[in-house]
Amino acid sequence: MRKLVLAISMLAFAGSVAFADPIKDRQALMKERGKLAGQLSKVVKGEEDFDAAAVLTTLKALQANAEKWDAEKLFPAGSDKGDTTAAPKIWEDKAGFNAAEDKLLADVKAAVASPPADVDALKAQLNTIGGDCGTCHQTYRIKKS
Ligand code: HEC
Repeated sequence: MRKLVLAISMLAFAGSVAFADPIKDRQALMKERGKLAGQLSKVVKGEEDFDAAAVLTTLKALQANAEKWDAEKLFPAGSDKGDTTAAPKIWEDKAGFNAAEDKLLADVKAAVASPPADVDALKAQLNTIGGDCGTCHQTYRIKKS
């Protein structure tokens, strides 16, 4: 009987891991952000031609990404342990953490609402957006050496 209970509880544990891995989910969300910001950065650096339509598509994808934010789901209590660079500060200051994400979303929305017409305009917007990424990482992420 004890063995059966143990087997069932192990199954339940495996199931919950398979269905919800907030660390993996949030890292996937961040990776996608990194990819999108990287695409815009290439244009700013002149490694890729400025194409207004393509840039707007990328900005919109970044907005969709930021709109998926759900700190309760992605950063539940206890998920500071494991293969993560999330800093304990996230759980000490949820309001500040969410405010940092709100600022990013607002700045991305502003860029989508007023799409850059040239590289200089994109550069200014990407400086603001990249600053939002950096500000949050500085405060809410542990640097792993
Ligand atoms: C509100 C805070 C916040 C904002 C804003 C933010 N990030 Fe992050 N980011 C994090 C946290 C926290 C982690 C660590 C996640 C983990 O390891 O569990 C992270 C991790 C990452 C990672 C590493 C993912 C991995 O595979 O481990 C990348 C890449 C990244 N962020 C890119 C970006 C970019 C690009 C932006 C801006 C467009 C951005 N982030 C904005 C909080 C933020």
